[in-house]
Amino acid sequence: MYLYHLKAKNIVMSDTPLLVTCGLPYTNGPCHIGHLRTYVPADFFVRYMRHKGEEVIFVCGSDNHGTPIVISAEAEGITPREMSERYNEHFETTFKKMGIDFDRFGMTDDPTNHKRTQEIVQKLIDNNHIYKKIINQSYCPHCQMFLPDRYVEGTCPHCGEKARGDECDQGCGKHLEPGEIKDPICKICGGKAELRDQEHYFFKLGDFSDFLEEYLPQLKGTSNARNYASGWVKEGLHDWCITRTLNWGVKFPGSEELVVYVWVDAPIGYMSFTEEWAEKTGGDWEQFWKGSSPVIHFIGQDIVYHHCVFWPALLKGAGYMPPDAVVASGMVKIDDKKFSKSRGYVVWTNEDYLDLGLSSDYLRYYLLSYTSHTKELNFSWKEYQTRVNNELVDTIGNFFYRTLHFAAKKLGGIPQKEPEQEILAEIEKAILETERSIQEYEFKSAIEAIMALGSFGNAYIQTNAPWKLMKTDEEGAKQVIRNCLQIVKALTILLDAVIPDKAQKSWELLGYGDKVIDHTLSEAKTGFDSEILPNPEIIFDKIEDEKIEEYEKTLRMRVETAKLKEKSQKKEENMITIDEFAKVELKAGRIIEAEKIDGSKKLLRIQVDLGDEKRQIVSGIAQFYNPEELADQDVIVVTNLKPAKLFGVESNGMILAAGEEASLLTTKIKVAPGTKVL
Ligand code: MSP
Ligand code: ZN
Repeated sequence: MYLYHLKAKNIVMSDTPLLVTCGLPYTNGPCHIGHLRTYVPADFFVRYMRHKGEEVIFVCGSDNHGTPIVISAEAEGITPREMSERYNEHFETTFKKMGIDFDRFGMTDDPTNHKRTQEIVQKLIDNNHIYKKIINQSYCPHCQMFLPDRYVEGTCPHCGEKARGDECDQGCGKHLEPGEIKDPICKICGGKAELRDQEHYFFKLGDFSDFLEEYLPQLKGTSNARNYASGWVKEGLHDWCITRTLNWGVKFPGSEELVVYVWVDAPIGYMSFTEEWAEKTGGDWEQFWKGSSPVIHFIGQDIVYHHCVFWPALLKGAGYMPPDAVVASGMVKIDDKKFSKSRGYVVWTNEDYLDLGLSSDYLRYYLLSYTSHTKELNFSWKEYQTRVNNELVDTIGNFFYRTLHFAAKKLGGIPQKEPEQEILAEIEKAILETERSIQEYEFKSAIEAIMALGSFGNAYIQTNAPWKLMKTDEEGAKQVIRNCLQIVKALTILLDAVIPDKAQKSWELLGYGDKVIDHTLSEAKTGFDSEILPNPEIIFDKIEDEKIEEYEKTLRMRVETAKLKEKSQKKEENMITIDEFAKVELKAGRIIEAEKIDGSKKLLRIQVDLGDEKRQIVSGIAQFYNPEELADQDVIVVTNLKPAKLFGVESNGMILAAGEEASLLTTKIKVAPGTKVL
């Protein structure tokens, strides 16, 4: 039995702290809302756990290595480090604007991670999990360099589609190992690459099959992660080439020219960032990576292999604890299409959303509530609007405002009464239901449980109509409002995990001067600090139709523009230079005689006078001309075509004709046979 079984305990009941991480964003482009499906649900989970009184450490950082970042930096004339710092800051600020606040947000290129990666790789070498092998690598003779990953393009060896050096991105989606790609082309100069021998290092992933077969069934998190990974292990695991010829990355121990593959040092970032957090706070990082405190990774479905197969094996091989849980979201798409900057299928978090003054909370709500976490999410502005307007504005906003307004304006504050049992039971039910769903990482159902309490409150105030009751039974009306205030308080604490910005405002409108995040769910059923309520405010605004149409238009325009660009790029690819055109030799010629070729309906054997020579040309114009009428006809001839045999007759050139009926090209004014066409 492996040591990790000691960790197999219900995280929710744990008294040890919890480490939550998110897939590290690459630093070669801005944040889009697809990324957010990793970070928003993780933040929801972390906040919820904190409201339960659990100690949670939340770390993330940026993934700085790999060829795409080097290529993007080169294109902009900056160093990969500069590029990484720029986008590192971009992601950190964007996350903060989205209400996502990590305890540590690091960089994989920082010294802690270089050191930890080298230590882990050295351990793997010492433990005999790494071996050397000479492989055939793509090499560009013109640029005089090996071409790792994205530096090369070619044909997928599995499905035959156009592919990138490291993955078949448009075809079968398979990961490609160095040297596997067919017909490699250098991305730098566009020239043909060749294969050259080079020594590389491989990680013996195959040695970890037994370990993974035992580990995966008890891996917690979402079932998609577990099931996919188990399937891959059953299919059989291939060893991984873990070195690249590049001078950006973590140096492979003992080598000057090799760095480790980005997928080695990237997940080790999780560990390094925990170390950096510990350094800053005096915390203990080893409890998570060598001890029994659980680690939960939040990622997207696209990187399940790396997190559930490769990463646990690396950790195991180096003597560390594999993760306790992997929570994998379905991918965010647009019109069922993968996010793609070049195809225009993208919604940027800043440019298309936050910069327009739209609420970070509304986007969080939409992403969390729209579909089950493991399902794909097709982004739709219309659906976003419906959710926000019907659920947040109409249900929650309406209920909060009616309650707070009535209490503040008609009752002078919070009535001195206890909430009724029926109400407390309703709150309890919502909390239990939310809890149950969160344990299963069913965030959509968790939101539904919270919103059910909102609907209950809304219906409760509507049927009990305190504004009417006030006239006949003032005490009764006060009781109704007191009950409603209790529900508002409970909802505010619950909703802080979903819509933290709005929840904080609501908390303040309930008369609190501190932060709602510092309060636990146990307070959902307790009273208030003060009876005084501030002036009520509307905190949820509707999203207008015109706005949605505008956003929708921006998205459509982007897709259209990308399509046009692709078209013109294709056209450009088909264009030839003047030099290429000049290779075609065209001359004016005069037909001497023409005759039918026996057995062919279409072909004529034609003798052409080209001034200093006579040529025999076979031409497919027999259906349109009588051989006799062609004599003395002036024509244009391609004179440098390689000779060919048609119907056993030799042809030395081509007579030009236009259209279906082969209208012969000729000169306007008679010129001498042999005159060049320029
Ligand atoms: N750098 C790697 C992760 C390394 S983790 C050790 C990476 N970076 S990423 O920038 O492409 O993605 C960052 C996170 O966002 C990942 O969790 C990824 O799964 C997620 N998503 C990126 N695009 C996504 C969608 N379109 N939909 C859902 N999640 C996606 O992967
Ligand atoms: Zn080249």
